Amino acid sequence: MKMQKQTPIPQALERKYPEPVVLITTADGRGRTNIMSVGWYSIVSSEPWMFLVAIDSGAFTYDLIRKTREFNVAFPDETMAGAVLLAGTVHGHQRDKLQETGLRTQPAIQIKPPLIMDAVANFECRLVKILKPGDCPLLIGEIVAAHVRRKAGAHRLYTIAPNYRLEGVRPHRPGKVARG
Ligand SMILES: Cc1cc2nc3c(=O)[nH]c(=O)nc-3n(C[C@H](O)[C@H](O)[C@H](O)COP(=O)(O)O)c2cc1C
Repeated sequence: MKMQKQTPIPQALERKYPEPVVLITTADGRGRTNIMSVGWYSIVSSEPWMFLVAIDSGAFTYDLIRKTREFNVAFPDETMAGAVLLAGTVHGHQRDKLQETGLRTQPAIQIKPPLIMDAVANFECRLVKILKPGDCPLLIGEIVAAHVRRKAGAHRLYTIAPNYRLEGVRPHRPGKVARG
């Protein structure tokens, strides 16, 4: 018996979970900030370190990154599901979403977008390239500074099922990862 059954792509993709979610903060340079949720993201280079984030061209975040060429990638923890849903379901053109989430921020070192103070980690990025292989632009940013929360042990927030079902996922403890 064949173990694999051919399936329509959207149905097969329902098996992709858990999927990480990150928060992208941006700033227009005149004090206006924004925050957006992104699930389609990956590390794509180690020398130098780079992130890739897929951001729809209709997002306010896309406009801001194209203009300023800067963004911050924050890893939310399990307490931030409400903020992730707000950042990920409302456009920031007319609303101050970052303030509405109630998330605390602190200044970044190299870029204008703020860090999320209570996030598991933050990565300041400078835009290197925008690729358009399909219907969603891919933005590649070089990580120019990274920060971690002093208190370790936080459960990172993941999307665990369709329709934005979000839950905390327990990480390996740093230093405890088995090496082969
Ligand atoms: C869990 C989650 C993951 C998301 N992932 C993406 C993504 O990878 N790319 C994207 O363009 N939009 C994604 N979205 C939707 C955007 O966050 C949403 O369109 C947001 O309102 C855009 O904000 P902005 O217009 O203020 O930039 C996601 C939303 C949620 C809740």
